[in-house]
Amino acid sequence: MKRYTNKRVVVTGGASGIGLASARRLFSEGAALALVDLDAAAARRCARELDPTGTRVAGYGADVADSAAVAAVLRQAEEWMDGLDVVVNSAGIIARGTVAETSDDAWRRVLEVDLSSMFYVARAVAPALRRAGGGAIVNVASVAGSVGAVNAAYAAAKGGVIALTRQLANEFCKDAIRVNSVSPGFTSTPLNQELRAAGSEGAWANRIPLGRFGLPGEIAAACAFLGSDDASYITGIDLVADGGLSAVARPDYIPAGAAMGGFQGASQ
Ligand code: NAI
Repeated sequence: MKRYTNKRVVVTGGASGIGLASARRLFSEGAALALVDLDAAAARRCARELDPTGTRVAGYGADVADSAAVAAVLRQAEEWMDGLDVVVNSAGIIARGTVAETSDDAWRRVLEVDLSSMFYVARAVAPALRRAGGGAIVNVASVAGSVGAVNAAYAAAKGGVIALTRQLANEFCKDAIRVNSVSPGFTSTPLNQELRAAGSEGAWANRIPLGRFGLPGEIAAACAFLGSDDASYITGIDLVADGGLSAVARPDYIPAGAAMGGFQGASQ
């Protein structure tokens, strides 16, 4: 039996990047899915592409930074799937800039979309997961949440996601709800398109022990694992999937890809 047979899953940010890759992965493993995204049309288009029959995947529009909208859309999704077992929280944005470069508005919006949303979703889905007899929440954080980098608001929000995940794991364990986070490093998605378009991917890739950016499917694999019963004894962890970026203190000492040259051909 596939790992997600009879599992009902909500994926936020499901219309692009890591969220969409997670939806594809979970669909292939048997799940029914509700894709929630700010871009309602894209969510519906992705749902149709994934499941042309429209019976196992539906797309919904909602701003995850709006707690009332989150509660309403999750109610709808639960009703449509006749229950809820797993949530993958992938919706997120980035504001580039150091502390000095970050405006109040950018700070607030990043904190709302990347961190508060996880709180709104967790609070709203807990009763549904309890009704299902337990379940799993996977929050997409970032290595920027545990290693200081260059984007101040983003780092603070993602650090908050990792802390909130531990808090939720502690609170929800009595209801058999596991809560974990995945921290990707650089991943080739529209989120960092502008960085790649500026030609800086090579320079960053040189600092990654595996010598390249991750693929959305590689992060989806980590999300799929934590959301599945394969991870039945795992809660409160942050699973880092960053090609080794945060494991090395001085990545510039390592010639790109030299140590792991044989492992660059991933095709997910
Ligand atoms: P993406 O830009 O491809 O996808 C993000 C999706 O979230 C989009 O479909 C967007 O419409 C949706 N979204 C944005 N704001 C929203 C809101 N307020 N309400 C509902 N949906 C909203 O980006 P990607 O790369 O797939 O990012 C997914 C998650 O992974 C984010 O939380 C991001 O911070 C995290 N991440 C990404 C990394 C990367 O290098 N791409 C690295 C580390 C973490």
